[in-house]
Amino acid sequence: MKAIAVYPGKPHSIHLTETTRPEIENIPNGRGVLVKVLRVGVDGTDREINEGLYGAPPPGEEILIIGHENFGRVEAVGPNVAGLTPGSYVVATVRRPGRSLYDQIGLCDMTTDETYYERGINLLHGYLAEYYADDSAYLIEVPPALKEVGVLLEPSTVMEKGWAQARAIQQRLKIWRPQRAAVLGAGTIGLLATLILRLRGLEVTAFARRRKPYLKADLTEAIGARYLSTREVSLQEAARRYGPFDLILEATGHAPIAFEAMEALGKNGVLILSSVTVGQGRSDIPADQINLGFVLGNKVAVGTVSANREHFEAGLRDLALAESAYPGWLKRLLTHPVKGLENYKRLFQLLEEEKEAIKIYCEAADL
Ligand code: BGC
Ligand code: ZN
Repeated sequence: MKAIAVYPGKPHSIHLTETTRPEIENIPNGRGVLVKVLRVGVDGTDREINEGLYGAPPPGEEILIIGHENFGRVEAVGPNVAGLTPGSYVVATVRRPGRSLYDQIGLCDMTTDETYYERGINLLHGYLAEYYADDSAYLIEVPPALKEVGVLLEPSTVMEKGWAQARAIQQRLKIWRPQRAAVLGAGTIGLLATLILRLRGLEVTAFARRRKPYLKADLTEAIGARYLSTREVSLQEAARRYGPFDLILEATGHAPIAFEAMEALGKNGVLILSSVTVGQGRSDIPADQINLGFVLGNKVAVGTVSANREHFEAGLRDLALAESAYPGWLKRLLTHPVKGLENYKRLFQLLEEEKEAIKIYCEAADL
């Protein structure tokens, strides 16, 4: 079968390769599922892998099949698979268990192992191929009514896990009624975060560099959130005007913003950090002020990576809610389809160059 792969560590090594089609017989305990890949989204992680900054091949192999934002249709199932049947639409999670205690209790997203396993990213092949096979435990069934937007499920899990973490942390307050949130970044993750927080009834202020009007600002306002350009209003000023922010999600990919967010966060607030920053950047920060604000304000900052099954399930519920609360909104995020695996060059060219894009994705096969 066709697959798109890189030589991890080697810049711009993306290429089309021919590999053997995976077989469900190779998945233990009769729980294998063979999935035909329909759509795969690409994001900053894929760009960094192709730049050679991130990612590793499976042990003993030279190439890594990339792609982690997946959507597909079940082709065949092993004898011990319950629930899924050929024709079911599915999304697979990305991380797979390692060895730590957290991995053993179903929280591989919270692993303490040095080595982590992520399909399409680290040590495991991804989904940018004609087929993949996996254990049914890692597959989430998507109702056919959501098939058009199913490729947005994986990116939605960033905010879903962030929200779940914030909720768990804020149990310290006995009563937590967040009213105002800030979302930093208006890419796919930021827009989906704004959506999820709006669906929870919060007043959301979203920040990105560019001045409105343009699509990301329109999409933000279409769901009743406020869009601010940081060229016009600083985060601190906005916090005075529209805060205090009970929750902030940082999803810009630019680490210094995380420290600005610490300053802008309200008392008892929770800051969720989600940007995977692989550079070596340094920056000058008002350390005393940030520290003082955290101490006197009982603030929390929490990092979040990957997601487990429950976050995918929460994401699915929110995609369904979004379709009824804001019909057609999710589809507007799917700005740049690229048809056919063989057009991978176009896919990555858009990823590197198209600043207007929200979701760039490969249509590997028809829905
Ligand atoms: C993926 C996550 C992954 C993270 C770090 C993100 O792009 O969506 O699943 O955990 O990168 O590798
Ligand atoms: Zn990703």
